[in-house]
Amino acid sequence: MRPLFVVLWAAAVVGAAGCGSESPGGPPADDPAPVFTAAEQSALAALRYDDRAPPPDPSNRVADAAAARLFGQRLFFDRALSGPLIEGDNDGSPGTLGRKGEAGKVSCADCHLPESGFVDTRSRGNQISLAAQWTARRTPTLLEVAFAPLFNWDGRRDSIWRQAIGVLESEREINGGRLFVAHQIFALHRAEYEAIFGAMPPLDDAARFPALAPTEAGCRARMTATGEVYDCRGIPGDHADYDGMAAADQTAVTQVTVNATKAIAAYVRQLRCGAGRFDAWLGGDQAALTRAEQRGAALFVGKAACVQCHGGPNLTDHQFHNVGLQPRMVAVAFVDEGDRGAAEGVAAAVADPLNVRGAFSDGDDGRLPAAPTSDMEGAFRTPTLRCLSGQPSFMHTGHMTTVDQVVAFFDRGGDPPGGYPGTSEITRLGLSERERADLVAFLATLEGPGPAAALRAGP
Ligand code: HEC
Ligand code: HEC
Repeated sequence: MRPLFVVLWAAAVVGAAGCGSESPGGPPADDPAPVFTAAEQSALAALRYDDRAPPPDPSNRVADAAAARLFGQRLFFDRALSGPLIEGDNDGSPGTLGRKGEAGKVSCADCHLPESGFVDTRSRGNQISLAAQWTARRTPTLLEVAFAPLFNWDGRRDSIWRQAIGVLESEREINGGRLFVAHQIFALHRAEYEAIFGAMPPLDDAARFPALAPTEAGCRARMTATGEVYDCRGIPGDHADYDGMAAADQTAVTQVTVNATKAIAAYVRQLRCGAGRFDAWLGGDQAALTRAEQRGAALFVGKAACVQCHGGPNLTDHQFHNVGLQPRMVAVAFVDEGDRGAAEGVAAAVADPLNVRGAFSDGDDGRLPAAPTSDMEGAFRTPTLRCLSGQPSFMHTGHMTTVDQVVAFFDRGGDPPGGYPGTSEITRLGLSERERADLVAFLATLEGPGPAAALRAGP
């Protein structure tokens, strides 16, 4: 049972009546008492942190199984699933994971850093991430991610396990490929895997399941007259090791990798931000927030209308919105131009044989729409605003490096049309300098304790 919502609004002035009429000894003029309308009060109550478990994931029958959680935690920190580093910026210097050509260097925890709220504070520039290559978008937090129906900034994946397979196979990220990953699970984690999922296929039968050395796994870039192409091994469409296997063996390999990633998803589902000072204040602790933070809370649900998209206990509606963001150059000299966001991402999820409707899913709860809608052009998923404080950069591009910049962006109504695909939903707010500062102050009150220490390292 959740406690009933009780607020002692004593220190706040309810309604507009008290505005500008401070009695002597009251708050100074530059730090006025917050004012809340009744509508703002109930809008704020709806933002209170919900510490109940995330919604069930019927696509993953081990989503909440203890053994799978532990196995998944081990795999999350396991660099042995990774193939070679491709990008030459991998020169062994601080912030890189090794040198070009080396394998076994990347785990999930190398971009989703547990001590940094599961975002990337490692890669040069703290904006986009460098593993096998540079990612095109900023690494989002994994805290509270199990509440999202679709994943990634663009909704390209419809389950956490499908996302993890994508990463294991991505030539930008772990660059391992499902055949190599299945072999590594067989070689390094067989007993733990079989205790959860039953007998593994005979992956030691090299005639049926070609073995790949770590540096042979995944993709390598090759220059041709028409540009760079990838030669890949151990993934569907490789015209090599994977495509050469019997169909039933391909399915067996895919099933091993799917199962491993379902365990990873069981671990990821436990990653939570937890309640912050804002929630203590909603619970009645008046001293938990300063006046500025309370004024910021009122603006968030009132004049600044942030709650229109950042609603609910995680301050996100989990929907896709076009906020009129023109990408800028990030520190590694990359501009993410013309990104259509969910218009392409959701279309890809719908066409994906590994989606929640596919043969490898344990059930479909209807989370995937039939097709992208027209308002998804240039739209990205509203991020949670919980546990934002340690995050070094913001937005899917990562080009903003302070919360002040984000608030100023929304205040000026986003970037002018033309610099991004689609139509922006954002309009100018006309906030004062103090109002912008109040909003920034409020966002810092959403910092929670994060996951327990036992979840922040390999088991
Ligand atoms: C090279 C850095 C990197 C590595 C390694 C990495 N990720 Fe990510 N992760 C990202 C980026 C970047 C995104 C956003 C991609 C996008 O939206 O296009 C992301 C997105 C996600 C998401 C979706 C988050 C959301 O809010 O929708 C999940 C879940 C996730 N990663 C889990 C994992 C797991 C599990 C692993 C290991 C198997 C992993 N990641 C490894 C960079 C990384
Ligand atoms: C129309 C929906 C919408 C409204 C209104 C809105 N946001 Fe957002 N917000 C988003 C989306 C979508 C993103 C991600 C955009 C992107 O990366 O392309 C975002 C990103 C952010 C981020 C960056 C978080 C991160 O992890 O990168 C912050 C902070 C933020 N919003 C705060 C606010 C505040 C404060 C307001 C009110 C002034 C506000 N937003 C109004 C939809 C909205």
